[in-house]
Amino acid sequence: MTIDISALTLAQKASLLSGQDFWSTKAIEEFGIPSIVLTDGPHGIRRQDGEADHLGINDALPSTCFPPAVAVGSSWDPDVAAQLGAAVGREANAFGVAVVLGPGVNIKRSPLCGRNFEYYSEDPLISGVLGAAHVNAMQAVGPGASVKHFAANNQEHERMRISADVDERTLREIYLPAFERIVTEAAPATVMASYNKINGVYASHNPWLLTEVLRDEWGFEGAVVSDWGAVSDRVAGVAAGMDLEMPGSGGATDQAIVDAVTRGELSEALVDDAVRRVLALTARHRTSTGQFDVDSHHALARQLAADSVVLLKNDGDVLPISNVSRVAVIGSFATEPRFQGGGSSHINPTRTDAALDTIRDLALERGITVEHADGFTLAEDPDVDKRRALAVEVAARSDVTIVFAGLSDREESEGFDRETLSLPTAQLAVIRDVAAVSARTVVVLSNGGVVSLEGWHDDVDAILEGWLLGQAGGSAIADVLFGVVNPSGHLAETIPLRLQDNPSWNNFPGEQGHVRYGEGVMVGYRHYTTADVPVRYPFGHGLSYTTFATTALVTEITGPDTATARVTVTNTGARTGKHVVQVYVATTAGPVRRPVRELRAFRKVTLEPGETQTVELALDRRAFAYWDIELDRWVVAPGEYTVQIGESSASIFAEETLALTGDVIIRPLTMDSTVGDWFAHPRVGPALMQGLTAGMSEEQAQQADQNPDGLKMVESMPMQQFLAFTGGAFPVEMLEQLMTLSYTTEDQDAVNELV
Ligand code: BGC
Repeated sequence: MTIDISALTLAQKASLLSGQDFWSTKAIEEFGIPSIVLTDGPHGIRRQDGEADHLGINDALPSTCFPPAVAVGSSWDPDVAAQLGAAVGREANAFGVAVVLGPGVNIKRSPLCGRNFEYYSEDPLISGVLGAAHVNAMQAVGPGASVKHFAANNQEHERMRISADVDERTLREIYLPAFERIVTEAAPATVMASYNKINGVYASHNPWLLTEVLRDEWGFEGAVVSDWGAVSDRVAGVAAGMDLEMPGSGGATDQAIVDAVTRGELSEALVDDAVRRVLALTARHRTSTGQFDVDSHHALARQLAADSVVLLKNDGDVLPISNVSRVAVIGSFATEPRFQGGGSSHINPTRTDAALDTIRDLALERGITVEHADGFTLAEDPDVDKRRALAVEVAARSDVTIVFAGLSDREESEGFDRETLSLPTAQLAVIRDVAAVSARTVVVLSNGGVVSLEGWHDDVDAILEGWLLGQAGGSAIADVLFGVVNPSGHLAETIPLRLQDNPSWNNFPGEQGHVRYGEGVMVGYRHYTTADVPVRYPFGHGLSYTTFATTALVTEITGPDTATARVTVTNTGARTGKHVVQVYVATTAGPVRRPVRELRAFRKVTLEPGETQTVELALDRRAFAYWDIELDRWVVAPGEYTVQIGESSASIFAEETLALTGDVIIRPLTMDSTVGDWFAHPRVGPALMQGLTAGMSEEQAQQADQNPDGLKMVESMPMQQFLAFTGGAFPVEMLEQLMTLSYTTEDQDAVNELV
């Protein structure tokens, strides 16, 4: 039904622009405008029917807790994200939810961010591809998405008021592309404006962000929703393109909008634009279907979780567990799994699987006995030594010991950042003491953010990074431990040797209201590879129970500045497995410092033993481009680009170099351009050089030839100063005429004639 908004009063229109309560918008019955429900998100539905809150404190109705984004990121599989998105969409329909708040696609700038479990990766391509798959699949079954938190919300410390001070190239290349991809490829119903400021301006009333970039450049047609309580200046927000304030303000901000229009400070046309977008959103209104398939969603949660586990280390093929008779399981995470993070995404699960139960089932089928000991508790423990000693006893009489270690909600959550990467000391002691007596030791980790493996990594045989895997995570881990599922996850974030090695270290979490993104584009592996800083496990790393051979890399230029990379992948082992082809691009072309390599395409394929597949990946223009701050746009610099196939960001095993024509860029010359700029100018430079040498005696020309550093010394001098120092090396009139000719592409004759 189309609503004629000119029939609405200004007050009615303003009332549509903020929530009625915590989770719903206002209805206007006489016009048939329904109230719709927006709720969290992202990896399950948090539908509260009692006391409402935005930190997951009060109860919600039971729904399936699917793997949080940290796990999905490690799957490197858009199909995992899509299946999850569709299932969350079906549950949203069951609860009558019109908009699900997610996915969260902020970049993991620091491993300390308390909310990293809700984000996919330190890399924008992974974040964008998985986010777009989630949104497309979810919206196809009904509810709209709310891609969050737009933008540069990469920490919890002071999240509601800190200014993320980020240069534009870094925003464009690192912090915005995931949003851009999702907006352009999946048309999310809403985008959520974050709490923080960007370069001093709150995201929720930032016209550059919400109108220029989001709408004018990317063509976003949906509604912008504020993060819960993110509005600081409602009137400025409407003018900037922030349509719906959530939750409600009890009418105060609606009145502020009415007053601003009445006083002539806010154009009513802008209010109408926002109203139109909110009305379009209300078309997603739905009545609850009341039902979803609890069992099949739990089974799906188990499958998606198993696809996300990362096998970091597997010395002597200790995993999958076989040919043993006694297994020890240590750690309370095996009986009381930690499978989700704290805060607004907290789901009241329909059920939970403890790893120990499934381990017992799978062990029984294989005639293996299982013994369990807690080893440690998560709270203060007066019996810490006794508990550890018991675990050591159990481990000593086993063929394999599996230690379940990890972080609790106390150590990481929405709302605060971590201060250390270390596991709690009681757990470190258990891992070391158990490893000292056990024949073989496997560590399974449950953590939302990266934990340090130092101090115990070399003592153990295998490490499974389980992240937070959702309500069926316990079973999924058992499936991987026993080889029911072959692990296929890869790190979507680096595990460093030391926290201090992380590029944000000196600038995290900021001070005096500002966090300076001083590392620029060198985020995560971009830094570690460029600065050659050793890490424990690089971005992209992940082992399998089978082996793969990747051969026959062929690259081909397919158009102006686009290409494809083709490889042949063979499963050379004895088990079915999934392999990720990782394509990086490396270049030094252009005027800006590029990371040593950047992930530009990836694809996960399933291969039976002995099976071979040819995988072709497209590299679009953006795969080669950088953001040019002088031209304010993407530029492909002419030059060489090496396409690399890696098993991680640190290990490249095949590469081919392409020469790209790139963009012909003629930057206008001014008297402030350097001597180097003048000589490098494609039309003026050669003429100038010729003119210079033409006027020289043979002896001078020879001297100049023998002293190429002569030009180098003055290269960075602006022409203005150069003239002053040289007493007018070139006639000013000539330079002035050259300047006017410098930005045209014709008139080479005129240039030649002048010099
Ligand atoms: C979070 C959002 C969430 C909202 C509603 C906020 O505190 O930042 O991610 O969707 O609350 O619960």
